[in-house]
Amino acid sequence: MDPIAVIATKRDGGELSTDQIREVIAAYTAGDVAPEQMSSLLMAIVLNGMGRREIADWTAAMVDSGVRLDLSGLRTVDKHSTGGVGDKITLPLTPLVASYGLAVPQLSGRGLGHTGGTLDKLESIPGWRADLTVDEMRAQLREVGAVVCAATADLAPADRKLYALRDVTGTVASIPLIAASIMSKKIAEGTGALVLDVKVGSGAFMKNRDDADKLARAMVELGSDAGVDTRALLTDMSSPLGRTAGNAVEVAESLEVLAGAGPSDVVELTLALAREMLDAGGLGDVDPAENLRNGRAMDTWRAMITGQGGDSDAPLPAPRHTHVIAAEADGRLAELDALAVGEAAWLLGAGRSRPGDSVSYAAGVTWHVGVGDEIRSGDPLFTLSFDDESRLDRAVSRLADAAVIADSAPSPGSRLLGRVTR
Ligand code: URA
Repeated sequence: MDPIAVIATKRDGGELSTDQIREVIAAYTAGDVAPEQMSSLLMAIVLNGMGRREIADWTAAMVDSGVRLDLSGLRTVDKHSTGGVGDKITLPLTPLVASYGLAVPQLSGRGLGHTGGTLDKLESIPGWRADLTVDEMRAQLREVGAVVCAATADLAPADRKLYALRDVTGTVASIPLIAASIMSKKIAEGTGALVLDVKVGSGAFMKNRDDADKLARAMVELGSDAGVDTRALLTDMSSPLGRTAGNAVEVAESLEVLAGAGPSDVVELTLALAREMLDAGGLGDVDPAENLRNGRAMDTWRAMITGQGGDSDAPLPAPRHTHVIAAEADGRLAELDALAVGEAAWLLGAGRSRPGDSVSYAAGVTWHVGVGDEIRSGDPLFTLSFDDESRLDRAVSRLADAAVIADSAPSPGSRLLGRVTR
């Protein structure tokens, strides 16, 4: 395999053959293709795209670069979100679906930049451990049904190495590469069914509906072709989800949902995704709201947390400082910029700039009204939580234009924009 010939094929708008894709990915993973050559190929893909067969080959090559977990014997259904600000849905959703007897293997990541990572959020619970062995993960799936843990290094290692390179070469923004990256991990994880939450809007990878639709279709096709029952919901991320962005603050909000309360958009999305997952798992007649009301989802949450060493009764980390930003006008909240809120939480210390950085569990942003709500001048608009005082000023500046208060505002519509199935 000549990497330069592979690069030239894509640079000139050609199609890569199955063998070229398989060989270039295997060689890059083994260290036999230089990062500058792979970067060049990735940029050619960003600019010239890949067809359906090429995306399927790219995905299969990344799955084959590592192991495929064997979860046979369990009725597994997983969910993946393309990421958004305040997106804590995995936290209430995983125990909720597991409380109906399905097994939910949530292999998650740590956050980078303004979108938080599910593992960072859960690690704010004293004692909770993300790093499980495959045997521990299987045991918890059998006993509790719900597990959220770090993906092991041998799952799609090619994607891990490629994603790190894409992150520093401006080559993340490609629908074929994003679809292959997400689906290689989910196929390798061994889930039987998968529900995708594809976010659209300022706080998401996909800024418009058309691109989100294309990404959803590409992933549904990849999953279905690999034997995974895959569907997608398109959901709105033009304003941040719920009322909090950060780590401990998002756990606290998730506990409200599990207790049968919580912000209406978080509840709506949790229930919509739960319905899809239950349907994919053969339980299409079940109303998931029931186990939020009767406490069974909360019982499964406790079992999930204690099963991974966490103390579900311990207080969550409290911030050393808080700072309130008040509204400067009477009116209704007409807009709340998801990206600005996510970046403010990150600037306060909730997220990391480089892989391996530590995060502050207590740092985050709470907004006291949602889009469409009434607010009066002087009322609290944001509360900023943080440990390190030197971080405050930049976060306050980032939020300066994040909220638009006007005489009238759209009433908050549904977060659900569409559904994509095979
Ligand atoms: N998330 C992934 O796992 N991969 C991408 O390429 C983008 C988002």
